[in-house]
Amino acid sequence: MSLLQIDRERCHRDGICADVCPALIITLEEEDGYPTLVEGGAERCLHCGHCVAVCPHGALSHASMAMEDCPAIERDRLPDAVGMEQFLRARRSIRRYKKDLLDRETLLRLIDVARHAPSGHNYQPVQWLVVQAPEEVQRLAGLVADWMRHLIDEKNPMAAALHMDMVVDAWEKGHDRICRSAPHLIVAHAAKANPTSPAAATIALTYLELVAASMGLGACWAGYFNVAANVWPPLTEALALPDGHVPFGAMMVGRPKYRYQRLPLRNTPQILWR
Ligand SMILES: Cc1cc2nc3c(=O)[nH]c(=O)nc-3n(C[C@H](O)[C@H](O)[C@H](O)COP(=O)(O)O)c2cc1C
Repeated sequence: MSLLQIDRERCHRDGICADVCPALIITLEEEDGYPTLVEGGAERCLHCGHCVAVCPHGALSHASMAMEDCPAIERDRLPDAVGMEQFLRARRSIRRYKKDLLDRETLLRLIDVARHAPSGHNYQPVQWLVVQAPEEVQRLAGLVADWMRHLIDEKNPMAAALHMDMVVDAWEKGHDRICRSAPHLIVAHAAKANPTSPAAATIALTYLELVAASMGLGACWAGYFNVAANVWPPLTEALALPDGHVPFGAMMVGRPKYRYQRLPLRNTPQILWR
């Protein structure tokens, strides 16, 4: 089967699909103007679906993405610019959680949206580890505390720079400043050897954090956790990620205990205009 199927009844031969194709693998037939693949195009296709998504006439299907499987955009559901700005500015890193657990469906919903984040070459390299059980989140946070103790003992400058003595002290008094007693933790991992992995994971987790906020859920980057997960063997082993994979970010998730009322201020942007 060819990579592209063109419905000639519907196709207006306007060339939009060819114009948007990031890999420049669609051309218009010289004799009749219908879109077709360039030679060797199938191997260069990014499988990004732009050709299917942009056609105003529903005339194009892709072998890996039938037009009927790609839902139409519901424009009346899209936020306007003012709403979007409020939403983005109202999102907060949540550090106090209710004890309620999120069900698997809800956790899946977060990942389902996050998988639509952009990735270099549309590789979609990110995979997920969901730590569902709060006791397991606490066990893993305990391993991070062990790592911090180790750095403090060996007088590693990172321990002082990140105030690890205070984090460990709090941990020993029953206050979790590592995973903030969040009920769940979601780790984005990907192949270390893939150069697109770091940005893809960061953006995917950002999508996840934003969609969590849109659902009234709370999330917060687990920065200490992620550094430890990359360098502290007991934690790396406990995560048991697939071979060649490393964690590129982790997010605490749960139901927020408090609701924020105001938009805090941020630095004025420093911009070089050229
Ligand atoms: C990469 C990264 C790592 C972070 N790590 C932690 C963390 O370990 N613990 C924590 O409480 N907050 C963490 N944060 C949250 C930041 O402290 C927070 O984004 C910042 O204070 C601004 O607050 P806001 O997100 O509510 O706007 C992290 C944020 C990022 C982007």
